[in-house]
Amino acid sequence: MTKPTGTVRIAAVGDIHLGGKGLEPPLQMLFSQVSEHADILALCGDLTDRGDPEEARLMAKALATVTVPIVAVLGNHDYECGKVSEVTRVLSDAGVRVLDGDADELLGIGFAGVKGFAGGFGRGALGPWGEPLIKQFVREAVDEALKLETALSRLRTERKVALLHYSPIVGTVLGEPPEIYPYLGSGRLEEPLTRYPVDVVFHGHAHHGAIEGRARGDVPVYNVSWMLLQRTFPNRPAFRVVELPVGDHPVEKPLDMPGVTPLRRVTDRPGA
Ligand SMILES: [Fe+2]
Ligand SMILES: [Fe+2]
Repeated sequence: MTKPTGTVRIAAVGDIHLGGKGLEPPLQMLFSQVSEHADILALCGDLTDRGDPEEARLMAKALATVTVPIVAVLGNHDYECGKVSEVTRVLSDAGVRVLDGDADELLGIGFAGVKGFAGGFGRGALGPWGEPLIKQFVREAVDEALKLETALSRLRTERKVALLHYSPIVGTVLGEPPEIYPYLGSGRLEEPLTRYPVDVVFHGHAHHGAIEGRARGDVPVYNVSWMLLQRTFPNRPAFRVVELPVGDHPVEKPLDMPGVTPLRRVTDRPGA
């Protein structure tokens, strides 16, 4: 197989929350623009509003207009009805690569995807102490971080992307009420990224958070919640596009679209 060479554009968006309102024009427009601006679509969870398989079928129908490969993680809303297996199957049948602790390669880019979990950040992170339910809660966050680490360890590509629903850093939840920071992500998700460095992290869930932050190692972290993107960039397509060079001779091309984030500095990272 020929090794991909050039620049791969990844469009990322999350928190579509497709529910009772159906396929509204903004959503139809969003997906109709993806294939024009990107080579891969990455979806960061909360694709449905309640995790109802009917909503997933609507999402699959909406995604039929996308002609580029689609990779996704699910979000907490996709679990609400308790039918996550069926939601996953509907999306998979529509060609979406749904990652849950899995690693996948698309166009020379490695993707490690996991939903993640809550629990807070830094000194405020919930610890596994006291009642069994508290320990179980923390265990869930630890397990998600371990799933991410396992997926990252399997990637053999030069360029790597971590796809999450919950935030791994506090930086991209800033702007939300501080009282709910612990429900928006977990710093435990950042730890695997220090052992297995990635070029970029995408997540959703923090609808009112900050658009961009940095994980340890100066790794860019983008909060791609659809609502946040719509508010921040009202005059352009509401997905974040990141360019990653792949292959031995990356093609430098002019940026023809506002909002495209080139990550050419990664070409200089030794051993990446
Ligand atoms: Fe959401
Ligand atoms: Fe969410």
